Amino acid sequence: MTPRAERAVAARNLNAILGKKRTIDWALARRAQSSLSKELTYGVLRHYFSLCDQVDDALSKSFRKQDLDLYGLLLVGAYQLGRTRIPAHAAIYETVEAAHELRKPWAKGVVNAVLRKLSERPISPSEHSFEHPEWLNSKLRDQYAEAEALMDANNRRAPMCLRVNTRRTTPRDYQALLERADIGYRKSWLPESLVLETPRPTDELPGFAEGLVAVQDIGAQLAIQPLAARLEPGQRVLDACAAPGGKLFHLLEAHDGLNVVAIDRATDRVQDLQRIAARLGHRNFTIQVADATQLSWWDAIGFDHVLVDVPCSGSGTLRRHPDIKVTRRWTEVESQLELQGRLLGNLWLTLCGGGTLLYCTCSILAEENDGIVGAFVETQADARVIDVKLPTGQATRFGWQLLPTERTTDGFYFALLQKDEK
Ligand SMILES: C[S@@+](CC[C@H](N)C(=O)[O-])C[C@H]1O[C@@H](n2cnc3c(N)ncnc32)[C@H](O)[C@@H]1O
Repeated sequence: MTPRAERAVAARNLNAILGKKRTIDWALARRAQSSLSKELTYGVLRHYFSLCDQVDDALSKSFRKQDLDLYGLLLVGAYQLGRTRIPAHAAIYETVEAAHELRKPWAKGVVNAVLRKLSERPISPSEHSFEHPEWLNSKLRDQYAEAEALMDANNRRAPMCLRVNTRRTTPRDYQALLERADIGYRKSWLPESLVLETPRPTDELPGFAEGLVAVQDIGAQLAIQPLAARLEPGQRVLDACAAPGGKLFHLLEAHDGLNVVAIDRATDRVQDLQRIAARLGHRNFTIQVADATQLSWWDAIGFDHVLVDVPCSGSGTLRRHPDIKVTRRWTEVESQLELQGRLLGNLWLTLCGGGTLLYCTCSILAEENDGIVGAFVETQADARVIDVKLPTGQATRFGWQLLPTERTTDGFYFALLQKDEK
């Protein structure tokens, strides 16, 4: 890919994210990328708020809606000038030429003028030094004494973490494979969890195609820990929001003889889950596309354990998904609270007396976490909160919160509830 094409691809990625509210994962999968086009896309989103200030200040009039790709291109240029080691002349030249790639050669003059202006200005300390939208900034400040450290952590690059598939190999043997391939790693809290020194494409990982390993954040790998001591062979377990299957497969790898039922509402995500299951060699579960706010999919045989990894804001995963900072509105998060409560309430009905339910989010916002669980246990007479304690993170009133300030975990929340025996 030519240098100008890399800038144009990044501008197109941003156009899809900013204009069409696509996710960064969607945008990156949509067209061929180079490592620079990805880096430019992530970089712009991480520093979006201050880059917009700079570009808006240097632009004499805004672009038409159909030219949002050019606005993305200017952000790509501003990011290179202020936040990378790319020499200014190369950054400006290639970004201006990228207007051709976007089939808008008429815009070369304005792109050139704006980027030259920016290159002559010292980068002033931004009002948006934490690069978070106002609503999220104020929620984090209300909810966390360490809000600034959290926002700082959200703007850092996420590490690449691996889960060794213990059905196919041992952690020791896999570590030996990494060493032979000269890939640096660190161990983490669980024997199967590894953190790479430098992220790399999965096709460079030994045995990836053969299913020896999966990519999974360490926080996500801690998710099944609260249930671990209670799982026994032969028990019926439901994973109610299962796709693409990270926690489900970890469960199947770590515990023998479970009778696992998985459901998810999204057909395309269930197809992804099935593809990953085939790579990892997992066949000991059933999966169906079904709505967990309903009971029509259920055979009325109670589950001993239920895992409810609800859809949420993803506010714990901003390092991996900086698009969320830019596109998510509080009103959207708020409207999902009702669904989270409904999922918890409905799935409770499928749990046996004496059984446990693990409620899980990848959010650091109290409303989606203790807010949902607290409202539920206050009205549900047969629900008891069981304490959760993990090797990192902090206790909350009803559960446990992992925070991205611990470098190897995204922000996750877990609450474990037990149903009284009848
Ligand atoms: C946080 S993701 C689950 C991630 C998954 N547990 C893992 O570890 O890979 C939430 C999932 O909930 C699913 N979902 C949303 N609403 C649902 C519903 N009403 N019933 C079942 N699944 C639902 C989404 O399709 C999405 O796959």
